[in-house]
Amino acid sequence: MTEWKKICLVTDIPVLGARRVARSRGLDVAVFRNDQDQVFALLDRCPHKGGPLSQGIVFGTSVACPLHNWTIDLDGGCAKAPDEGCTQKFSVQITGGAVHLDSIELATLALDVQAPRAGPGASTGATGDESFAVQTPHTA
Ligand code: FES
Repeated sequence: MTEWKKICLVTDIPVLGARRVARSRGLDVAVFRNDQDQVFALLDRCPHKGGPLSQGIVFGTSVACPLHNWTIDLDGGCAKAPDEGCTQKFSVQITGGAVHLDSIELATLALDVQAPRAGPGASTGATGDESFAVQTPHTA
């Protein structure tokens, strides 16, 4: 059963940009908006070396990782060939201009994925009581 949790408005996410959703456990989820107002959600961790995808460049239905420029498919979370690997995808529902994520997925998926130990992708993950709080991406 899906339990949709309102996260923000679509317009709260910059066009061709992203916002991060902090979870009480696990790494943040990056919520992306493209120029067609499509919204996608992926674990904020590149499948290559853990770069923060929320700081990447969105184009079409892809994001270019800011660290080594791998192209990640926003719809499925996988790197485009010749690169290989996937990051966790999260379900998104748009209702009345609001972005909803599945609260069960947020609470259960990819909890064992670790942040890189150093660099721009490094994160403490949990942020205490701010479950599902929307944050702006870190700046370099
Ligand atoms: S960490 Fe994303 S391309 Fe290397």
